[in-house]
Amino acid sequence: PVTSRVTLKVNGRQQTIAVDTRTTLLDLLREQLHLTGTKKGCDQGQCGACTVIVDGRRINSCLSLAVMHEGSEVTTIEGLGTPEKLHPMQAAFVKHDGYQCGYCTPGQICSAVAVLDEIRQGIPSHVTADLTQRPLLTETEIRERMSGNICRCGAYSNIVDAIVEISG
Ligand code: FES
Repeated sequence: PVTSRVTLKVNGRQQTIAVDTRTTLLDLLREQLHLTGTKKGCDQGQCGACTVIVDGRRINSCLSLAVMHEGSEVTTIEGLGTPEKLHPMQAAFVKHDGYQCGYCTPGQICSAVAVLDEIRQGIPSHVTADLTQRPLLTETEIRERMSGNICRCGAYSNIVDAIVEISG
């Protein structure tokens, strides 16, 4: 194995870490930094359980090598809120029961937070052709933008309710 070093700011803390160049960002977070809030589901980019926010954009951390993110700012679920002071999106998920088993929840919440940033930046979705005709975020648009985050329990309608509350 080839070892390299990568410097990242993770949840506000800058650190330089020695990594095998084949290590994914997901494995770096979970196995080297012990940030196990980020989940490994499929490890193939299909479920969204591993979603984290890198430089303001959500990514599937299982598909990305850690060494590709030199100098980046990474936010995981642990960096969004604390048990004492939840992020508003976390509080909305609790209020609306936006989960059942909870395994997909960290990825859902990271994704949802980044979705609202996409809206603020005016990044169009595939289903909303007319940006003048809108509430800020329609339910259909939320479902489309969140379609990369799978919930095997099927808590989708409650997840959407939580995001609607925060986006309104
Ligand atoms: Fe990364 Fe499923 S674990 S998309």
